[in-house]
Amino acid sequence: MRKDVRILLVGEDGVGKTSLILSLVSEEFPEEVPFKAEEITIPADVTPEKVPTHIVDFSTQEQSHEELVHEINRSDVICVVYSVDVPESIERISTYWLPEIRKTVGLENRKPVILVGNKSDTYDNSSMEVILPIMNAWQEVETCVECSAKTLKNISELFYYAQKAVLHPTAPLYNSEDKE
Ligand code: GTP
Repeated sequence: MRKDVRILLVGEDGVGKTSLILSLVSEEFPEEVPFKAEEITIPADVTPEKVPTHIVDFSTQEQSHEELVHEINRSDVICVVYSVDVPESIERISTYWLPEIRKTVGLENRKPVILVGNKSDTYDNSSMEVILPIMNAWQEVETCVECSAKTLKNISELFYYAQKAVLHPTAPLYNSEDKE
């Protein structure tokens, strides 16, 4: 049995990483947020899988690339957050964040990734059409979810999916193409 789960949130500036964490904790949308939330630990008995869960924010405005590498290495699962109404924040998933994660952990040490489309309250359409090809192209992407820190839609689900990706991974943890 795993001792704990460490969830890291990364993504472009302003997509709502800090708001997502604080919305989960306080069950309401925080109007004002710092650049970076303090690391929070959710005790085992209030998590769906009964495992203590650490949630870690990352802010490129306050932290260096070295710290990003360190946090990626320490995490068990990484949520790459984008804003459903900002196409550039989606483009950067496959041009920066996923390559950066792969470069850091290596292909053989695959770490599950969840694509998180925040601010679904601002957008009537779905971002799934552009997200699905990314999911198909990157085997470490375990799942994707659209949510809103503002309306609290899918917030607890998002952290549950992240926990579940670590405790019950569905994709192979090695690259089968390398196993020939
Ligand atoms: P950095 O600290 O720059 O990395 O940003 P961040 O990703 O932590 O984003 P942050 O939580 O600071 O949110 C940025 C802005 O988006 C703030 O003005 C939030 O109020 C707003 N915001 C966050 N989540 C939502 C959401 O679900 N819906 C809407 N409408 N606005 C949101």
